[in-house]
Amino acid sequence: MKKIFTLLTVLVIGLQLQAKEGMWLPHLIAQLNYSDMQRMGLQISAEEIYAVNKSSLKDAVVHFNGGCTGELISSQGLLLTNHHCGYSQIQSHSTKENNYLEDGFWAASRSEELPNSGLYAAIIREIKDVSNEILEGSTPEMSEEERDSIIKVNAQNLLGEAQAKNPGLEFELKDFFFGNQFLLISKVKYTDVRLVGAPPSSIGKYGKDTDNWVWPRHTGDFSMFRVYANADNQPAEYSETNVPYKPAQHLKINIAGVKEGDFTMVYGFPGSTNQYLPASEVANTVNEYNPFRIRIRDQIINILDAKMRVDEDARLQYASKFARSSNSWKRWKGEILGIKRTNALEVLRQEEKLFKQMCEAIPELKDDKDLVAKMDALYAKRIPLTKERFAYIEVGYFGIEAFRHVLNYSNLIKHAEAEDEEALKTEADRLAKRMEGFLKDYDYDLDKQVAINILPIYLETIKTNPGEEVRELQEEGSDNWPEEIAEMYEDAPFFKEDFAEELKKNPAKMAKKIAESDLYELSLEMYSHYFEVINAGLKPINLEIDALQARYVKALQRAFPKKSFYPDANSTLRVAYGQVKSYEARDAVKYEAQTYLKGVMEKYVPGDYEFDLPQKLIDLYEAKDYGPYGENGKMPVCFVATNHTTGGNSGSPVLNARGELIGLNFDRAWDGVMSDMYFDPSICRNVMVDLRYVLFIIDKLGGASYLVEEMDLVRHHPDETVTKKVESEEKSSVKTKAADKTKAEPVMEVQYREN
Ligand code: ARG
Ligand code: ASP
Repeated sequence: MKKIFTLLTVLVIGLQLQAKEGMWLPHLIAQLNYSDMQRMGLQISAEEIYAVNKSSLKDAVVHFNGGCTGELISSQGLLLTNHHCGYSQIQSHSTKENNYLEDGFWAASRSEELPNSGLYAAIIREIKDVSNEILEGSTPEMSEEERDSIIKVNAQNLLGEAQAKNPGLEFELKDFFFGNQFLLISKVKYTDVRLVGAPPSSIGKYGKDTDNWVWPRHTGDFSMFRVYANADNQPAEYSETNVPYKPAQHLKINIAGVKEGDFTMVYGFPGSTNQYLPASEVANTVNEYNPFRIRIRDQIINILDAKMRVDEDARLQYASKFARSSNSWKRWKGEILGIKRTNALEVLRQEEKLFKQMCEAIPELKDDKDLVAKMDALYAKRIPLTKERFAYIEVGYFGIEAFRHVLNYSNLIKHAEAEDEEALKTEADRLAKRMEGFLKDYDYDLDKQVAINILPIYLETIKTNPGEEVRELQEEGSDNWPEEIAEMYEDAPFFKEDFAEELKKNPAKMAKKIAESDLYELSLEMYSHYFEVINAGLKPINLEIDALQARYVKALQRAFPKKSFYPDANSTLRVAYGQVKSYEARDAVKYEAQTYLKGVMEKYVPGDYEFDLPQKLIDLYEAKDYGPYGENGKMPVCFVATNHTTGGNSGSPVLNARGELIGLNFDRAWDGVMSDMYFDPSICRNVMVDLRYVLFIIDKLGGASYLVEEMDLVRHHPDETVTKKVESEEKSSVKTKAADKTKAEPVMEVQYREN
């Protein structure tokens, strides 16, 4: 008994230190987090954050095109998100004459706002626990396959019913904690979303890849859109008659500034995390998978970089591809460092030991005591096949551009083989057009060189039932590969001058040529191998792993009932909360929490590809012309806080204790990017643009003060409101929560929730 007590004490103390970790489900905040949030300074109610039958902050948060977050900041549907989230829309409206990417863009009136086909903004209506309905009919004794198919049927029925009852909404069923919990999420999807403004890239992307994942940061990573609706305020496809959407709630913007220790929360759509991995799989990630993927991307990035430095066309064609490729590459490197520096593996192993001891001490958990060992074994078993999987993803799918592109030709070949003239012609025309688009941003020599350098890594890695083409190459030996690969490119029909013309004129003949080309054959074989061998081979192991992970999370919850658990990110709406906080990254390196325009100027390199600046910004700096947005003669730019965020949180609103907008999330700081697997509050920081910098750029640099006029600005720091409130309350001697907060309060126990 004493043993359990000591273990619990250790754990509870540990948990208090870690209190800020987590991406929480908004509908459970009242139950799980509210007292903790209050203790940290939150001044609004849980219902103001999330409610279903009345408006709440959630109505101002949008899923921006499925991959980013955005927020509504005026009663007229004005939407704020990151520059890197709106990048492709800004790019698509840019021409040489009107280069919005380079010069920025500000719609001077509603009629100048630019429509974007395919872009949407979704607002969550309701999050509902449907675990019982989904799991109905399944039993713990069932095989994973059986359980899976029951869940599928239940899910289909439930989604069908919900959809039939609410034709105006979209429904999504998501599983949490590896299938322990299921939530039905309804949303309204607005499809007329127009570009309103963007700063020049020299501000919105300032520091580019050099500064990416880096603190101190000086990027004004924002862009603005407007959501439009029909006359009934309902979603509608683009139409001139559409009107600005009137949100149920929009965010107020607080320009009083932030200080160390201030409460912050991030409301958004984090994409995916792996918080419940055993130490062994975290070790596999940083020792095996990350280095392997980094090795492949090293090649790609070096080749791209060398060419982009000397070739202006390549620089334009590959800017966005380079950024995409280097973004994860850099993060993987950071993860390796972060896991090492925080001694994460040792900490996790200790926690696993503790878990095992708890299982041994608690009778109902005695069968779970070897769960971690079982997971370790399975994760170890799948290493070789998982490496093959990454080899395909990195080389065949994302690395070699031609390989992925030629996969589009499989239907053409099918139609040719079926001698379906009409379908063949239509498909040939479509592909000819598509090829034009592809070639616009394609550099043949560069891609060939990438292939020569990374295909060998694939060929060396694939051991499980390689197809004929791969086997032949493997047998020939690596000395021949450079020449073979070069020949494969030279012989391929796709890159010949008259390819598109020929394809349209002679689709049957071209289909045959394509089908017989080594490049197409190899790419297709690798693609099929990925599904039929690699994924098929991984499926049974992964099913077993998932089942164990599900059991593990459930057992953890029983073993540590005082701790509240949050599910891994899965692109659903979440709230993370923390504090504005400086940090000590490593020995003798301490970072402040806020950056200023002075720092932007310090990094300035005239004419540089990454660190150039618009003259107007320099002028404003020199004149210290910051309008109402400056602070003691300085212009704040970015700040960091301890919120737990990940990819997908970009563009998320960062709110203060009163739920007012103070920052726009866009990144994490280098030393803590391992937070997807292991969050350490001492060094994990999310990076956001200070809203004052956003407004300064719109108003002073962009001259678009009419946009600021649309917004609701608040000029008091939340602490001031508390002090004022407390003063007036003292007079009337009425006690409120805010006044209570100033007293030392015992740590509230968070409820244990059973799934
Ligand atoms: N690291 C941030 C994120 O993961 C920003 C990425 C955009 N910037 C870049 N240089 N790639 O999305
Ligand atoms: N930059 C990321 C995003 O685009 C955010 C992060 O990974 O912290 O979502």
